[in-house]
Amino acid sequence: MRVLSGIQPSGKLHLGNYFGMMKPALELQKEGQAFIFIADYHALTSVTEPRAMRQGTIDVALDFIACGLDTDNTIFYRQSDIHEVTELTWILSCVTPMGLLERCHSYKDKVAKGLPATHGLLAYPVLMAADILIMQSNVIPVGRDQKQHVEVTRDIGLKFNNVYGNVFTIPEPSIREEVAVVPGVDGQKMSKSYNNAVEIFGDLKEARANIMRIVTDSKTVADVKNPDECNVFALYKLFASDEEREAMAARYRAGGLGYGEVKKALYEKFETHFAPLRKKREELQKDMGYVESILRKGADRARAEAVKTLKKARQAVGLE
Ligand code: ADP
Ligand code: TRP
Repeated sequence: MRVLSGIQPSGKLHLGNYFGMMKPALELQKEGQAFIFIADYHALTSVTEPRAMRQGTIDVALDFIACGLDTDNTIFYRQSDIHEVTELTWILSCVTPMGLLERCHSYKDKVAKGLPATHGLLAYPVLMAADILIMQSNVIPVGRDQKQHVEVTRDIGLKFNNVYGNVFTIPEPSIREEVAVVPGVDGQKMSKSYNNAVEIFGDLKEARANIMRIVTDSKTVADVKNPDECNVFALYKLFASDEEREAMAARYRAGGLGYGEVKKALYEKFETHFAPLRKKREELQKDMGYVESILRKGADRARAEAVKTLKKARQAVGLE
């Protein structure tokens, strides 16, 4: 089994990214060969400041290694170190129907939010298909918002294989239902663009303040409450053991539990869960040469795979 996922260097890591994509991807490292990359070509669709691009790339590298990336076995690389990805993107573009791209929610949402409607933004899913297909990967851990993009990848891969013969493995998204959509402090999907995110490695006081402003209903302490309708509980249960989750849910249903108390319990969980990772990240930051060496080694291994697949695709279409 080959597991592959990427994240754009376009913002600070938040709880939605961590539980929706990063943690599931890191858990899958044990079950097969994992490919994890920093999607910097993709980030060019929204990051226009070169310094922010460089810093974002460093941040993603530190985040992943601090959170448990297996630096011996997992192939960890910068997307832009694999130039073959862009050549494959063009080959795939030529079998991609426009309608498939025009239907993508993510494109429509991003344009509605004010991102420029560039060719790059429209072609974003074709680049993503190239990332996935070039490594012949079959399991793609992502949050639910990326499901459609993986479906587009499948469509493009199948179309190519039908026209030119079997070159690509057709992948499946891997979406953990319990973390498919992590809510933000306002109850909408947590996202760096909605100003509702709890950042993982940012200022702790700010994280605490954000947790304390999670939106709840206006029930009093004495009232009986439904944990399944509560944004605080939705985040608390991401950290809690089964017993802790059940005990907290029972206290919701019994009445006598205030939201302030659950928010404090959530902050404590947050702080203890991330404290060792935060420490590791601070140490790594002092040794950027090591981080760079991991990315270089990853690029060499990823390129070896990419070169093989690209050759097959070039031969299939008659460029060789
Ligand atoms: P954002 O929405 O903050 O811009 P990205 O689009 O960069 O986040 O997402 C990176 C990865 O994290 C993707 O796999 C995405 O599905 C996942 N992800 C982002 N936000 C959430 C969320 N709120 N719940 C679950 N997964 C998420
Ligand atoms: N589009 C993904 C996101 O915004 C990032 C990404 C790029 C990706 N290429 C990928 C994810 C390939 C999984 C597989 O989160």
